[in-house]
Amino acid sequence: MQCSWKAVILLALASIAIQYTAIRTFTAKPFHICPVPNPLNCGLGQETEAFERICDEYPYFTYNVSRKTHILILATTRSGSSFVGQLFNQHSDVFYLFEPLYHVQTTLIPRLSHSKSTADRRVMLGASRDLLRSLYGCDLYFLESYIKPPPVNHTTDKLFRRGASKALCSPPVCDVFGPSEVNIEEGDCVKKCSTLNMTLATDSCKERRHVAIKIVRVPEIGDLKALVEDPRLNLKIIQLVRDPRGILSSRIETFRDTYRLWRIWRATACPHDCRKVPHRS
Ligand SMILES: *[C@@H]1O[C@H](CO)[C@@H](O)[C@H](O)[C@H]1NC(C)=O
Ligand SMILES: *[C@@H]1O[C@H](CO)[C@@H](O)[C@H](O)[C@H]1NC(C)=O
Ligand SMILES: *[C@@H]1O[C@H](CO)[C@@H](O)[C@H](O)[C@H]1NC(C)=O
Repeated sequence: MQCSWKAVILLALASIAIQYTAIRTFTAKPFHICPVPNPLNCGLGQETEAFERICDEYPYFTYNVSRKTHILILATTRSGSSFVGQLFNQHSDVFYLFEPLYHVQTTLIPRLSHSKSTADRRVMLGASRDLLRSLYGCDLYFLESYIKPPPVNHTTDKLFRRGASKALCSPPVCDVFGPSEVNIEEGDCVKKCSTLNMTLATDSCKERRHVAIKIVRVPEIGDLKALVEDPRLNLKIIQLVRDPRGILSSRIETFRDTYRLWRIWRATACPHDCRKVPHRS
């Protein structure tokens, strides 16, 4: 492959700049970033020694060790939420759930009606908030009321994308893979782990310090105001925003039926006249 010398120099310069920034970040005085003991974020009260130990181990942040942090990854489809979710899923102290609101949507809004009325929307959002609150409290039985067919004796094999959650594929929930198994294939988990025992899943959730949930079914962060403002929940939200052109281009490939008209448009419309975008009602 031919490679222009200008490109090589540009690459080299970019790489030097990145390394310089990285080195500066890491050599910057960590104690400026580590805040003084603070009941809100550290919560170790009088135990100054313990505080210092934590501060040394995690120089970039401190937290109340007896307080769970809950994480919500809020996105729209094809914004990279599965990837970001994986970053949390791989952590052994995180109980990760992939799109539990799928069950709320399929139960409350029958597939055929595809209704978009505000009343339906409100019901769906209310139910979503309640479910999320329960899941952050490790109450997985609450989810059962949305799973079809309803789980028997708190076991089910119908949990949506169960294999996408490492916690649901490793002990104590499933003994097929060891706890240190890094790359559990989603399909392997579904095939090899037996029916999901929700009681064991609840235990697994309680054993871990954090619960992380990824959702694409809540359109706005404002819809979750009640959760965000609940101090007991200690919820941190990561909202992913991607260039809509990238989202559209990815959806055209992924949801071929829904985006059929877009695909035709992309293949036929003049690239210089994009006002010819077909309107969908
Ligand atoms: C730390 O978190 C625990 C559990 O939520 C709470 O009971 C305790 O009061 C917190 N400590 C402080 C100093 O806020
Ligand atoms: C559920 O548990 C009860 C009591 O242990 C048992 O009799 C029943 O057969 C179980 N049902 C299924 C479908 O396993
Ligand atoms: C699920 O796990 C719990 C806890 O180990 C156990 O008591 C229960 O019998 C299991 N349920 C089934 C249906 O195997």
